[in-house]
Amino acid sequence: MARPRVLSGIQPTADSFHLGNYLGAVRQWVTMQETHDAFYCVVDLHAITVPTEPAALRRRSRVAAAQLFAAGLDPERATVFVQSHVREHTELAWILICLTGMGEAGRMTQFKDKSAKFGESAASVGLFTYPILQAADILIYQADKVPVGADQKQHLELTRDLGQRFNHRYGDTFTLPEPYILKEVEKITDLQEPTAKMSKSSSSPAGILDVLEQPGPLRKKVMRAVTDTGTEVLFDEDNKPGISNLLRIQSALTGTPIPDLVARYAGQGYGTFKKDVAEAVVETFTPIRERAEKLLSNESELDRMLAVGAERAGAVARQTMEQVRDRVGFLPKF
Ligand code: TYM
Repeated sequence: MARPRVLSGIQPTADSFHLGNYLGAVRQWVTMQETHDAFYCVVDLHAITVPTEPAALRRRSRVAAAQLFAAGLDPERATVFVQSHVREHTELAWILICLTGMGEAGRMTQFKDKSAKFGESAASVGLFTYPILQAADILIYQADKVPVGADQKQHLELTRDLGQRFNHRYGDTFTLPEPYILKEVEKITDLQEPTAKMSKSSSSPAGILDVLEQPGPLRKKVMRAVTDTGTEVLFDEDNKPGISNLLRIQSALTGTPIPDLVARYAGQGYGTFKKDVAEAVVETFTPIRERAEKLLSNESELDRMLAVGAERAGAVARQTMEQVRDRVGFLPKF
């Protein structure tokens, strides 16, 4: 039997992924390549929904791809590619845009949050249609599962709605995907503001742990993470959001259940615990950073790996689009 298919994407909008991206998404991508027919893309078309400098976009797209391979994605087992290399994403997005209600798109909370930063009238129409392009990314591969963090839930609901609407109107065409969200790591929070999501766009540098960061600053940031009053290492999201976040991180990085960690640090205070969290972060990130640096030192090889991914992804996307064009009623081109 064919393996179930998985697709996910990540934006090249920063010079490094952060711990939230890694634990919430990329780590699952790596495990799922063993059991799924896996497609993962660097979503550069999404990145330009906010003003983006061309040289930075080019650099960050390569840096993103290098981190994906460095984190353990194997080009033999997973199809890793750059979204803009497969033009069909944009074509399907247009068709889905024509199936989306204005009100429906207007309800997307990420658009509201992101556009609030510019003022809604200055935000691009691209930012408004962002989730519809995301739906196209997923539906075009007939993905069964989409591994993401909690912030993507609403976009995945829209994806299912649009796929269902298309199927209803034009005949069964798309697989309806299920989100794959691991509860324990669905929302890693900011080290300085432990009730807010760790985020490329809104966290302060002190609140975010970057995968490509050096051990020194990583350790410093963990040691300076906002903790809560009291001295006990306890998991209590409401009263101890800072310590609870660190416990979640430590548990995910070491594979030790949270209750075992709580027992281990009983009576030891925050200092020892934070030191161990810092070490676990450094131990996880250092090999990834080193491998990413190596991959980035040979850009033509990296570009070649991405070309292989684009070729494989393109073959699937073209097949879906042939059917979609026909169903919608576009004339075949002879
Ligand atoms: P992006 O680039 O913002 O984030 C990439 C992935 O990281 C997850 N994530 C987190 N998980 C846990 N805790 C956090 N603090 C945290 N911050 C980020 C995100 O949930 C995401 O899974 N819209 C998507 C990109 C996209 C996509 C797709 C995803 C485009 N097309 C198709 C899936 C399928 C995004 O902005 O991801």
